[in-house]
Amino acid sequence: MDPNASGLAARLAEAGQSHLLQFWDELSPEEQGDFARELQKMDFLEINGFFEKATGASSSSKQEKMDARMQPVPRDVLGSVTRDRESLKDWEDAGLRCISQSKVAVLLLAGGQGTRLGVSYPKGMYDVGLPSHKTLFQIQAERILKLQQLAEQKHKIKCCVPWYIMTSGRTMASTKDYFSRHNNFGLDQNNIIFFQQGMLPAMDYQGKVILESKGKLAMAPDGNGGLYRALGNQGIMDDMQRRGIEFIHVYCVDNILVKVADPSFIGFCVKKGADCGAKVVEKTNPTEAVGVVCKVDGLYQVVEYSEITLATAEKRGADGRLTFSSGNVANHFFSFSFLRDVVQKFEPELQHHVAQKKIPYVDTKGQLIKPDKPNGIKMEKFVFDIFQFAKTFVVFEVLREDEFNPLKNADSQDAKDTPTTARHALMSLHHRWVLNAGGHFIDENGRHVPAIPRDGAADDVTRNLKDGTDLPIKCEISPLVSYGGEGLEELVRGREFHPTLMIDESGVHELVKNGV
Ligand code: UD1
Repeated sequence: MDPNASGLAARLAEAGQSHLLQFWDELSPEEQGDFARELQKMDFLEINGFFEKATGASSSSKQEKMDARMQPVPRDVLGSVTRDRESLKDWEDAGLRCISQSKVAVLLLAGGQGTRLGVSYPKGMYDVGLPSHKTLFQIQAERILKLQQLAEQKHKIKCCVPWYIMTSGRTMASTKDYFSRHNNFGLDQNNIIFFQQGMLPAMDYQGKVILESKGKLAMAPDGNGGLYRALGNQGIMDDMQRRGIEFIHVYCVDNILVKVADPSFIGFCVKKGADCGAKVVEKTNPTEAVGVVCKVDGLYQVVEYSEITLATAEKRGADGRLTFSSGNVANHFFSFSFLRDVVQKFEPELQHHVAQKKIPYVDTKGQLIKPDKPNGIKMEKFVFDIFQFAKTFVVFEVLREDEFNPLKNADSQDAKDTPTTARHALMSLHHRWVLNAGGHFIDENGRHVPAIPRDGAADDVTRNLKDGTDLPIKCEISPLVSYGGEGLEELVRGREFHPTLMIDESGVHELVKNGV
C-alpha cells in the first residue's frame, strides 16, 4: 500500500502530521497495512482542532480566572441524607417504584486503564481481599440482583435494571470474557450491554501526534466523557428507548461502597423534577483528590482536583468548613430525555481537558524512549461536563463512610484509596449494619467490640492499616442478602458473633470459630 497513491500522505501533510510516516520504509508489508488502516480511520484535522481548543483553555492564567468565577452549590438544590431525614423514606419509595416499573438503568464507566493501581486487567476484576474474594464487578452485579428482588417483592411485578457497561479498546475483550466465565454473576445476559468508548492519540506540546513505535500511534481512551459520543454511535440510546428507560444512574467502577441504582438518589432526583443530578460527600481535606461540584459563571460544573488552585481549595467559610465542600463521588443521575439531548445536540460543544503525561515514544532515530518527566498530553472529556446543559440540576449529599471509598492506588506505606482501605471500609460498614440490626461482636475475652474505635484505639487502627493488616472486625455481608443494611434483624438480632463473620445466601457463618 503506497501512502502517496492512496492520498494518505497528502491528508497527513494537510494536517501537519507527516512525521508519522518517517519510518514507513522500515516497516514490513504487513505492518504497513496495519498502520495504514489505523491512520485511515483517523480524522487528523478534527484531532488538531481538539488540541487547539483544549490547550487554549488550559493555560494557567485562564485557570486562575476560573477560580474567581466559582461559586459553591446553593442550599436550595441540595438534598442530604442527614439533614433531610424526614424525606428519605419518600425518596426511597419513589426510586423503588421507578425501578419496579423497569424505568431505571445503570451505566458503568469502566474504560479507564487502572494505571495508578498498577494492574494490567480491568479494575472491576480486582479482588481487594474480602473474606469472599468477590471482585468489584461481582459486588455491583449482586447489588443489582438484590435491588431487582426488593423492587419485585414490594410492588409484586417482575422488573429489570439493565446494566450498560462502557469499556475501552483496552478493556473490552477481558471484561466480556470475565463476565461470561462467571455466568454474568446470575444476571440475565440480555440485560448486560457492553459498548466501547473511543480513543485519541497522545500529542506533544506542539500538537504533533506521538508514535509509540515506528508503525503505531500512542493511543489512549478519550476520557469518561467519551461516553456521550459512544452512546450515540453504538446505538445505546436506541436500546434504552426500546426498553422504556427513563432514568439512568451513571457511576465509576472503583467505589467499593457504590449503591448501584440507589433508590433514594433516584427518588430524590425524580421528585425534584431534575434532569441531571450529582451525588456528593463533604470534602474535608483541601488536597483530597476529588473534584468539587460548584457553579462557574452561573452554570453547574465539577472543577477537578487537578484544575483548582490550592488557594481556592483551601478557602473556608465562617463555620470553618471548606467553601467548596461538595466532593464529587462520580455518581450521576440523568433523565433519558436530557441524555438524548446531550448525545444528539450538545456533545460536540464539550471541550477536552488536558492531562500532561509521560508518554513513551520513538525518537527520530527510531529508539524507544521512556521519559522521566511529562513530554506530552492526553486529551479527555469528562462525564460531568454536561451539567452545564441541565435545566434542573440537583445535588444529593451522602455520608462518606456509607457510600464512598474508591480504589485508586496499590497498597504502600502512605498511599490512600488502596485495596486495604477499600476492604476496611466495606467491612466496617457491614459491622455497623450488624449492630444496627441488634447483633454484636465479641472479642477473644468475651467483650463487645464497638463499631467505631474507642478513644485511644484509633491509633491502633491507623497502625494496622499502614501495616497492611486488617481491622479487628472482619465482617462481610453478601449483597444478595442485603442491599443497604435491610433484612438483617432476623439473622442477627440478640446474637453474638466472633469475627470473621460472613452472611450469605446459605446463612450466617463464623469462619474462624469453625476453623475456616
Ligand atoms: C473521578 C472523577 C472525580 C471524582 C473521583 C471520585 C471524573 C473525570 N473525575 O476522578 O471528579 O472526585 O472520580 O473517585 O469523573 N474512565 C473511563 N474512560 C476513560 C477514563 C476513565 O471509563 O477514558 C472511568 C474509569 O474506569 C473509572 C472512572 O471513569 O471508573 C473514573 O476515572 P478515574 O481516572 O479513576 O477518575 P479520577 O481521576 O479518580
